[in-house]
Amino acid sequence: MTAIAPINPGTLQLAASFLRKGGLVAMPTETVYGLACDASNPDAVARLYAAKGRPQFNPLIAHVASFEMAQAEAVFSEAALALARNFWPGPLTLVLPVAQTGTVCDLARSGLDTIAIRMPAHPGARSLIAGFGRPVVAPSANRSGHISPTLADHVKADLDGKVDLILDGGPCTQGIESTIVSLVGDRPALLRAGAVETSVLESFLGEPLARAGEEDDISAPGQLKSHYAPNAHLRLNADAPEAGEAWLGFGPDTFGGTNLSPNGNLAEAAANLFAMLRKLDTDSDRIAVAHIPDEGLGEAINDRLARAAHRE
Ligand code: TXA
Ligand code: MG
Repeated sequence: MTAIAPINPGTLQLAASFLRKGGLVAMPTETVYGLACDASNPDAVARLYAAKGRPQFNPLIAHVASFEMAQAEAVFSEAALALARNFWPGPLTLVLPVAQTGTVCDLARSGLDTIAIRMPAHPGARSLIAGFGRPVVAPSANRSGHISPTLADHVKADLDGKVDLILDGGPCTQGIESTIVSLVGDRPALLRAGAVETSVLESFLGEPLARAGEEDDISAPGQLKSHYAPNAHLRLNADAPEAGEAWLGFGPDTFGGTNLSPNGNLAEAAANLFAMLRKLDTDSDRIAVAHIPDEGLGEAINDRLARAAHRE
């Protein structure tokens, strides 16, 4: 049994002591719950991959509590600095060249000479990392391939007994993972649509982001087609539920099922997405999902839905 603990100075200290011993601690972030361990400790990272059942060729994001911590790990170009200054702390992950002073172990980076790094906005996550004093790596705290957790209870449902402590920060406000931008190629590239809208990044940079598929070297190694997989069968872009289907709506409708956002608000839909999928998945075998517009946060929502619907 893994304990779920509210965040306070005592539980933050306990969590940091687990991290120092190579343990695993689930922590809230503004996007989804992360499973944190000491980024510099390969034994801890191996334990983390095993707890999630995650393939080791899928590298992890280093989470930092300050710019100093970030600059010891990665080489920041002008563009990287500008992005970090504007969007951190917050749900933007930058892929950058590893710094010579970097402490994140090879296993956490899957042997790449680049590193994915972000400074989370959630005060609980930042306090934990600051108290620990070094970066943690933190994939989403779910079984590999399962739906990402946005509540402490989701973490417990997936990883009970496999992690040392779950810090409870309530529901995640954004509900969808960070946007990942790579700055190691010729042009800034979008590796994963996420909680920072792509168009916001593009207007900040003053140029469109390159996309996976456009150039061969653009890929997020972990972007598997089938991911976020519920047990239920998902039918996307549905106009209405059919007999035997649970309904996941968006915008006003009269079907009376679960609704991501009755007002058609994409931020609200993102925050509700994973929790509603988990709930419907426990109640039904077939879920019909309403059409979600592909603009703004809809891009990240539709990306997650497509992966959740994909069958191997
Ligand atoms: O919002 C988030 O980013 C959450 C919270 C917990 O912070 N974390 C998260 O981590 O989504 P994870 O492990 O589920 O996703 C990490 C993604 C994977 O797709 C991985 O392939 C990619 O980041 N990644 C990590 N290092 C990379 C690198 N050096 N180059 C390209 N992609 C990388
Ligand atoms: Mg994940």
